[in-house]
Amino acid sequence: MNKISTLNNNWDTSLYEDKHAFVWQYGEDLLQLLNPQPGESILDLGCGTGQLTDKIAQTGAQVWGIDSAPAMIEKAKENYPHIRFDVADATNFKIEQPFDAVFSNAVLHWVKPADRAIASIRQALKPGGRFVAEFGGKGNIQAIVTALSNALEAINISAQALNPWYYPSIGEYATLLEQQGFDVIYSILFARPTPLTQGEAGMANWIRMFASSFLAGLPNEQQIQVIRVVEEYLKPTLYQQGTWQADYRRIRIVAIKI
Ligand code: BEZ
Repeated sequence: MNKISTLNNNWDTSLYEDKHAFVWQYGEDLLQLLNPQPGESILDLGCGTGQLTDKIAQTGAQVWGIDSAPAMIEKAKENYPHIRFDVADATNFKIEQPFDAVFSNAVLHWVKPADRAIASIRQALKPGGRFVAEFGGKGNIQAIVTALSNALEAINISAQALNPWYYPSIGEYATLLEQQGFDVIYSILFARPTPLTQGEAGMANWIRMFASSFLAGLPNEQQIQVIRVVEEYLKPTLYQQGTWQADYRRIRIVAIKI
């Protein structure tokens, strides 16, 4: 869905698969929480290039992957031609038949109108169906966002409007779910420091892949300069023994449609 979303939803899927595989590798834990059963119908919301969709299919469940990025869906279809994938938006997708479960990994922090995504998820579920999700929670990549904001403010650019992410607390997100007729039966917020690949270049590459909206509109030279300032700022806390660690904090939720 917005797995590696930019403002124009135009993604380099090869870079995503080659260098950012941690996005779905960490998501494998979430599959245990989903616990898919043979014959169940499951929607993978924000399926990216389809790796977790395929894992769900391997359990014998009927799975449908959707993502708002056409390049992701194209790649997912190429990777797993036996699975159904379609381009659709988390805030207004429509389904033909309600599902037993909606699964979503590392996507919903890209969807700022969270209430609209929850409404879409609700209409996609059977009564008693489950919504199992993980995404960035309160405080996610706080150090990186602060460093980007400071570097931009130093050149008189306000970062607030450029920030594409929504990182709710458990209380906030559970309240939104309850307001739309879900029972929240499990929730957790936890720190998951995430090593970035590519050694010293890891932070710059992460910023270019995931945080490009902060740099949009700047000429390339100035982008390089901002990234350099961010690296200097973060090095004492997030760079150890040749590896950058992103300060991820995840929220995990299981909710049942009443
Ligand atoms: C995340 O998975 O928390 C995340 C990924 C890319 C950008 C921001 C957050």
